[in-house]
Amino acid sequence: MDNFHFYSPTYFVFGKDGENQTGSMVKRFGGSKVLIHYGGGSVVRSGLLDRVKASLTAEGISFIELGGVKPNPRSGLVYEGIDLCRKENVDFILAVGGGSTIDSSKAIAAGTIYDGDFWDFYSGKRIEKALPVGTILTIAAAGSEGSPDSVITKEEGMFKRGASGDAIRPKFSILNPALTQTLPPYQSAAGITDIMAHLYERYLTNSTEVEVTDRLIEALLLTMKHEGPRVIENPDNYEARANIMWAGMMAHNNSCGVGRSQDWNSHNIEHELSALYDCAHGAGLAVTMPAVFKYVMNHNVMRFAQVAVRVWGCSMDFEHPEVTALEGINAFASFLKSIGMPSNFAELGAKEEDIPQLVETLCCGDGRDGNIYGFVKLNKEDCTNIYKMMIKKNHIY
Ligand code: NZQ
Ligand code: ZN
Repeated sequence: MDNFHFYSPTYFVFGKDGENQTGSMVKRFGGSKVLIHYGGGSVVRSGLLDRVKASLTAEGISFIELGGVKPNPRSGLVYEGIDLCRKENVDFILAVGGGSTIDSSKAIAAGTIYDGDFWDFYSGKRIEKALPVGTILTIAAAGSEGSPDSVITKEEGMFKRGASGDAIRPKFSILNPALTQTLPPYQSAAGITDIMAHLYERYLTNSTEVEVTDRLIEALLLTMKHEGPRVIENPDNYEARANIMWAGMMAHNNSCGVGRSQDWNSHNIEHELSALYDCAHGAGLAVTMPAVFKYVMNHNVMRFAQVAVRVWGCSMDFEHPEVTALEGINAFASFLKSIGMPSNFAELGAKEEDIPQLVETLCCGDGRDGNIYGFVKLNKEDCTNIYKMMIKKNHIY
C-alpha cells in the first residue's frame, strides 16, 4: 500500500425530507448570503427549490439565484456566477441538483475569491481557497457531493477538464434518495454507470498489496450490480435508490482509492465525447470502458481476472487467465447494455470521422504532452485504436 493523506470533512444529512434542514446546515457552516445554483429546471418542477428557499427563509438567511447549468457544465455560466457573487457579496454557494450543478458551484466558489482567471484551476493549478459550498443532490452519479473535484468545459476550444482541491469539498451534502425517484431511466442508468466507472478507475492500479481497498471496491460493485437493475425496473424503489446514493458517494470520496495508484484513462477518453457530442457522461463511459479495458487488459491480466471472479461470478481459468479476464469485461458490458446504456459510437451520436480531432484534443489539448497517463500510458495511436474499437456495433468484441 502507498503512503497517503486523507481528509474528507463533508457533513452528510442522509434520508427522507433532508432538504428541509438546508437552512440550519448553511447556518452551521457560517453562510449568511447564499447563491442558490441549479440546472435546467428539474428542481423547479419537482418543488424542491421552493422547499429549499423556505428552509433558508425560516433561518433568516438571504439568498439570490442562478439557474441554467447544463449537463457537462460550461465556463460561460461560471464567469457569470463569479461576477454575481462578487457584486452581491455572497459568502456561501448552495448547489441544488446533480454533478453538473455541483461542479459549476465549486468553480464559482473558487473563482469568486481568486484574482486570476478561474480556468487556471482547470489547467493544473490546485485549488487552495474557495467560498464554502453545500449541496442538495438529486442524482446519484458523479460523486461530486463528497469529492474534491470539479469538471468544467471551456467553451473556447471545448476542452473538458477537471480541477481539484480539498477547499472545494462540500461542507455539507444533503442526500435524500427520494429526490432521485423523478429521474428518467436513462439518467438513472447513466448514473449507475458513472458510479461503477469510479470504482473501476480505482481498481485498475499498479500498486500492490491493496487488499482493503480492493475488497471495498468489489463490495460496492456488487451492490451496484444488485441494486442497479432494481431501480431501472422500479424507479420508486426507495431502498434501492438509497443504497445506490450512498454507494455513489463512497465510490468517489476516495475512501476506496487511498494508498493506491489509480487509472482515469476511461474518464479522460470519455470527457472528449461528452464535450464534443454533449452526451451523458455515464453513457459515454458505457461505450468507453469495455474498449479501454480490452485494450489494456494484458498489462495485468490477473487484475481483470480477479474482478471477473469476485464481482461477475466467472470461474477462474488458471491456465488461461486472459479468458476469465475477457469474460468479466464482457459481463460488465452486457450489464451496462441491460440497464439501457449505449454500447457503440453510433448509439452515442459519435462519428468515426471525428476521431483525429478527439485524439488531438485528448492527448495534446490545453498543454498535454501527447499522452494520457493512468494504469497504462496511452499515446495518440493507442487512443485512436481505442476510439476505433468503439465503432463496432456489437458491444462484445
Ligand atoms: O438540469 P436539470 O433540469 O436539473 O436536469 C438534470 C440533467 O438534465 C437531470 N436531473 C438531475 N436530477 C434529476 C434530474 N431530472 C429529474 N429528476 C431529478 N431528480 O439529469 C440530467 C443530468 O444531470 P447532471 O448534473 O449533468 O448529472 P451528473 O450528476 O451525472 O453530472 C455529470 C457531470 O459530472 C461530471 C461529468 O463529467 C459531467 O460533467 N463529473 C464530475 C465529477 C466530480 N466532480 O467529482 C466526477 C465524475 O467522474 C464526472 O466526470
Ligand atoms: Zn465519472
